[in-house]
Amino acid sequence: MDQNEEVKESFDIPVAERKYINEINRKNKKKILLTISTLLLLFSITGLRFRRNLNQIRLRNINIQNANNLDQSILGHLPYNEISKEKLVLIEPNIEVHIDMSESLLKMRSDAKKDGIFLVFLSGYRSINLQEDIFYSLKSMRNQIAAERARVSAPPGYSEHSTGFAIDIGDANKRETDFEVEFENTDAFRWLKLNAAKYHFKLSFDQNNKTVDYEPWHWRYEGSIEALKVFEESYRKLNNSKNL
Ligand code: DAL
Ligand code: ZN
Repeated sequence: MDQNEEVKESFDIPVAERKYINEINRKNKKKILLTISTLLLLFSITGLRFRRNLNQIRLRNINIQNANNLDQSILGHLPYNEISKEKLVLIEPNIEVHIDMSESLLKMRSDAKKDGIFLVFLSGYRSINLQEDIFYSLKSMRNQIAAERARVSAPPGYSEHSTGFAIDIGDANKRETDFEVEFENTDAFRWLKLNAAKYHFKLSFDQNNKTVDYEPWHWRYEGSIEALKVFEESYRKLNNSKNL
């Protein structure tokens, strides 16, 4: 059909009918445009939501990775470096401690004595090698699995004793309670509970600890920046990883 024939044909449609067809076309166009814009709007909203969910998943994965990197604990114990030998002092036969805490520890013992309380030092600094013996030899002798052993003893490289800032204390009048929970019923423990913080000592493993058994005899020093750094950094890492 050439152009003349097309023009001729459109003249064949009555004017009213042509107007009606135009009106229908206009309405259809409007409907199509409205549908397209609604669809576009829906797509962009869904796309935004999808991107947001994807970002949340990515962020969660990063947090989980960070948590894995941060949580360096083993069976509830945190890693500690071994103190260098020149920072150790021998305060009595077999008891070496970090030089930062020696004065405060000895003062605590002499002040306790003035109150009629006789503190005995049972264990101070322990090398990672000694801790290895304590952990694995006793574990084997007592036929314990690692998780059981770790409730009472830290794996090598994970003991506060290797920092030189931990001390196990007994009561000279109740030696049968050495390293026993019954130590909490001695005058020495009652005195320590009331006074140890004055000398910057804190109980490391209290009754609320879920992974390590209660050790009323094991105290750690918090009276120098080095000691605070050693303990606070490890605990912050553990708490951060728990909160993620
Ligand atoms: N008894 C404590 C947990 C240690 O071995 O360090
Ligand atoms: Zn201890």
